[in-house]
Amino acid sequence: MPAIVLLGAQWGDEGKGKATDLLGESVDYVVKYNGGNNAGHTIVIGDEKYALHLLPAGVLTPDVVPVIGNGVVVDLGVLFGEIDGLEARGIDTSRLVVSANAHVITAYHTTVDKVGERFLGDAKIGTTGRGIGPAYADKMSRIGVRVQDLFDEKILRQKVEGALEQKNQLLVKAYNRKALSVDAAVEELLGYTDRLRPMVADTSLLLAGALDAGKVVLLEGGQATMLDVDHGTYPFVTSSNPTAGGACTGSGIPPTRLDRVVAIVKAYTTRVGAGPFPTELVDADGERLREQGVEFGTTTGRPRRCGWYDAVIARYAARINGVTDFVLTKLDVLTGFEKIPVCVGYRINGSTYDEMPMTQTEFHHAEPVYEDLPGWDEDISAARSLEDLPKNARRYVEAVESMTSVPVSVIGVGPGRDASIVVRALV
Ligand code: GDP
Ligand code: IMO
Ligand code: MG
Repeated sequence: MPAIVLLGAQWGDEGKGKATDLLGESVDYVVKYNGGNNAGHTIVIGDEKYALHLLPAGVLTPDVVPVIGNGVVVDLGVLFGEIDGLEARGIDTSRLVVSANAHVITAYHTTVDKVGERFLGDAKIGTTGRGIGPAYADKMSRIGVRVQDLFDEKILRQKVEGALEQKNQLLVKAYNRKALSVDAAVEELLGYTDRLRPMVADTSLLLAGALDAGKVVLLEGGQATMLDVDHGTYPFVTSSNPTAGGACTGSGIPPTRLDRVVAIVKAYTTRVGAGPFPTELVDADGERLREQGVEFGTTTGRPRRCGWYDAVIARYAARINGVTDFVLTKLDVLTGFEKIPVCVGYRINGSTYDEMPMTQTEFHHAEPVYEDLPGWDEDISAARSLEDLPKNARRYVEAVESMTSVPVSVIGVGPGRDASIVVRALV
């Protein structure tokens, strides 16, 4: 004990990577429990900047054991590329453990993801094109390939044949593409086997033993609450469960062993890809947030859509995840705005809502109801305690707290590891 979940409260890119890195030295294991290389975490340590996609952010901390849990979908080419990139920069990745039950993303998943998006036209999700949706679809359809299948060539071939039989029908007949070759897919996967074998383990057993031995296990979510396939803005979501429940199914750690759920929430809101976003700004303020916050995707480089803080979403995230602590990031980005509107409710077809509406149709029509908070001009990037913050910045933090009834335990005031105010220790 303890097991701590760290997840995103909004539409991703809240600064989960930095928060994980900040906790690094107090933690023994960091487990990625959902998603794949659709995630993009930028971590700044001194003058060094790291962009991680598939490896848990804990890999950057010496002695932490990074674990890729059963709930993750793994593109093995990306995995080894990322490992090689970090090793070349002197980061030791040798402690990495990969679940035998994690599913594998193959070239055919990436192809189907990209072709499928193209055929959706205007209705496209704006996926990262990394094969995430098709790999999870195969998992749920029970035609997926798992990490353990790479150690049994006969089974592997059978599974790839099964998966491709269906996909080739789709590619050739519906999408007018060439059929994909079973041999090529099997060969590619077998090429990773020797390197992969020593990393693979029964990770739920490993983590149960770690918790029994009193180790600290951090469960790191990719994506975020509003991108959750069950609780997010479906269908404009990812295909996994980034919410706290997903931390259990994606790691094999039962709910009764979780001690704390930490949600990372940005002081404003961003979203990449398509889908509803009530507080989105398509004006100069939105542009200013994008520039001051350097809001460009770590994975795809796309400009992130930007908007004001949405307390309805924060409250929803607190409820769905059972959040015990918020980490409020990027407060520094709001410096210089004379007043900062915060969305406290929605107006939908003439009625006022202070909770997420039940249907997507209503959410698509949600107009934000704003309360203006006074801004501040002082540079806050050197603040290391609440007392160092100007009065109005403190007031902003207090407003966030009172609107969710959850304490803000850490405040981010810059991208660097040290640029944080720790009000209450998370471990
Ligand atoms: P993640 O996907 O949740 O890990 O977040 P990303 O790494 O995709 O995006 C967050 C970005 O904000 C990264 O570039 C971080 O370096 C940066 N960042 C994190 N916390 C802060 C903060 O408190 N202030 C500022 N200015 N930047 C931050
Ligand atoms: P991190 O972990 C922001 C979005 C995509 C798209 C939708 C579905 O860095 O916060 P997918 O490729 O998952 O099928 O795309 O989800 N998306 C993210 N947006 N941050 C992420 O991860 C994301 N991962 C996926 O833009 O709208
Ligand atoms: Mg990101």
